[in-house]
Amino acid sequence: MLYPQSNRFRQCFDLSGFWEIRFDPENAGEAQGWSAGFRDGRPIAVPASWNEQFAELRDYLGAAWYQTRFELPARIESHKHFLRFGSVNYLADVWLNGVWLGRHEGGHLPFEFDVTGKLRFDGNLLVVRVDGSLAPDRVPPGNVPRDPLDRFVEFNYPDGSFDFFPYCGIHRPVLLYSTHRAGISDLTVTTDIEGDAGLVQVQVARAETSSARARLTLQGRGDPLAAEVEIEAGAEVVLRIPHADLWSPGSPHLYQLTVELENEGQVFDRYTLPVGIRTVKVDGDRLLLNDQPIYLKGFGRHEDFPVVGRGFLPALIVKDSALMQWVGANSFRTTHYPYSEQMMDLADRLGFLVIDETPAVGLFFDEPGLDRRLQLCRQYTQELIARDKNHPSVIAWSLANEPHSWRPAAKPFFQDLYDLARSLDTARPITVVTHVGVEEEAFEFVDFMCLNRYYGWYTDPGDLDLGCQKLSAELDALYAKYHKPLILTEFGADTIPGCHAEQPEMFSEEYQAEMLTRYIEVLRTKPFVVGEHVWNLCDFKTGQSTRRVGGFNLKGIFTRDRKPKLAAHKLRELWHRPEK
Ligand code: GCU
Repeated sequence: MLYPQSNRFRQCFDLSGFWEIRFDPENAGEAQGWSAGFRDGRPIAVPASWNEQFAELRDYLGAAWYQTRFELPARIESHKHFLRFGSVNYLADVWLNGVWLGRHEGGHLPFEFDVTGKLRFDGNLLVVRVDGSLAPDRVPPGNVPRDPLDRFVEFNYPDGSFDFFPYCGIHRPVLLYSTHRAGISDLTVTTDIEGDAGLVQVQVARAETSSARARLTLQGRGDPLAAEVEIEAGAEVVLRIPHADLWSPGSPHLYQLTVELENEGQVFDRYTLPVGIRTVKVDGDRLLLNDQPIYLKGFGRHEDFPVVGRGFLPALIVKDSALMQWVGANSFRTTHYPYSEQMMDLADRLGFLVIDETPAVGLFFDEPGLDRRLQLCRQYTQELIARDKNHPSVIAWSLANEPHSWRPAAKPFFQDLYDLARSLDTARPITVVTHVGVEEEAFEFVDFMCLNRYYGWYTDPGDLDLGCQKLSAELDALYAKYHKPLILTEFGADTIPGCHAEQPEMFSEEYQAEMLTRYIEVLRTKPFVVGEHVWNLCDFKTGQSTRRVGGFNLKGIFTRDRKPKLAAHKLRELWHRPEK
C-alpha cells in the first residue's frame, strides 16, 4: 500500500489540523444523525489521541465523533480520489457528505476509501465515529473476564490485556489524494545480491490495465543512473546494478527508484521509492545481513508522549532516532503495534534493523472470540506486510507479543499466521515473541526465537545473581530444544529517576544499570544469541495498577521527556565497544 505522493501527476492534501469532536457516551449519535454533521463539537487536534487533550476524558474509551470540512482542489477528470487514514484506534466508521464510506477495525495500520464521484466542489463534510472500547474479542483484547477471587491476577484500569495506555483517536495523518485512473496502484520491490552486483526486482501493479509502458530508473546517491528499462506496465522486471552500494546499519545506502507510466509517449503517472539493496537470512545459529552475521542492539519502544498520547509527532521520531544513535543502538522492535510510516522511512535512512510487529498483544486462546481474534490477526498481518514490504530496514515480521501460548490452541493459530505471512513475503524471517519459554507452541516453526525475560525483577526480585543463572539456563534449554537463533527482546527494570543506592537496589538507577550490564554479559556468552533489545527506550504511560506508579512503566533508560538515566550512559559505554 503506497504512501500518497504529490508530483506533476498526483495530488495529496493533508487534512491534519483542528477538527471538531463530540463525545457520545450514550451512543446516541448515530440515531441523532451526527453522521451528517453535529453541533456542540469542541476543537481537537488531528492527529493525536484525545485522552490527554482533555484531562477529564483520559479514561474515556467509548464512542466519539469527529468532523471536518474541506474544499476540493481542481477536479481532474482522468483521476480517482481517495481518503486515507494512517491510523485510527480502535474502530472507525467514516461518512463523507452524509454517505457512509465504510468501517475499519484496528489501530496503527492505514486504510482508505475510493471517493471518486462522491466529492463536492462546494465543500465537503467528513465525519468519523471512533470507538476505542476494550473487549475480549478485539485485538488487542481488554476487559477479559477473570476470576476476581484469583488474588494473583493483575487488574489495570482501563483493563487492557497489555501494558500500555489504550489511547484512542485519529492518530496519524488523514490524506485526500488523487491518482490517474490507470496509474500505479502498488509497487513490490525485493532485492538480492550476486557477487558485487545488486539485483532489484520490481513488480508494478496498476489500477486498470489499459495499454501503457513503464520506465523504471534507479538513481544512486550522486552516482550516474544505475539502470533503466521499459516494460509493459504491470509486468515484473529485475534491474541489475554492478558494484552496488549495499544497505546496512553502518552504511544505509538508498537508491531512488522512479517508475513512470506513459502512453503514446505521454507520461501520465510517476511514483518514486527509496530502495535499499540488502538480504536477510537465518543460517543455522546466525542471522545474516548481506551474508554477514549481524547482532541486534536496541530497544522495545512505544509511540507515547505527553498530551499527544500515541499521536504522530515528527519531532519525536527524530528525537528518539537520535537517542538510539547516541546510545549505539542499531535496531528496534515496533512494540506492540506497527509504528508510523514516517518512522519506518527514517529507519531506512538512518540504518536501523527493525522487527516489525503486528498489534497482536495479549492474545489468549480460549473461547469466546478465538476465531474472530484469528481473523483480526490475519487482517493485521496482511495490512502490515502490504504497508511495510518495501522497507530495507524491516528485517523480520513479529506475529505477536507474549501470546498466552501455553494453550494447545495456540499452535494452529500461529501456524495459520506464519503460513499467511510466508505466502505474502518469501524473503524475510518470521518470529513470535514469547514470555512462555520452552513450552512456546509457535517456536516449532518460527525462523528465529524471541524471548522476553525479567529474572531479578518480576521473579527473584532483587537477586541478580540468581536471576542471571536462571536466564543462562533457560537460554541453553531453548536452544537445546529448537536449535534456532534467539533474540532477547525484552529485559529491564522499573527505575525512578534520581533514586540512587550505593549497592544496586530495585527502582534505583544503579539497579537498572547493573541488571542490563549483567544480562548483556550472559547474552554475550551464547553463540546462538543474535540480539539484545532493552525494555524500554523511554518511560511510557500505562493503565493504573499497583505495579505502575502514577500510571507509568518506568523501565525506560530515558524518562518520558527523554532525559537519560544512569543506564543510558552505561549502555552507551557497552554498545560503543567494538566486539559485537
Ligand atoms: C512484558 C510486555 C511489555 C511490558 C513489560 C513490563 O514483557 O511485553 O509490554 O511493558 O513486560 O512488564 O514492563
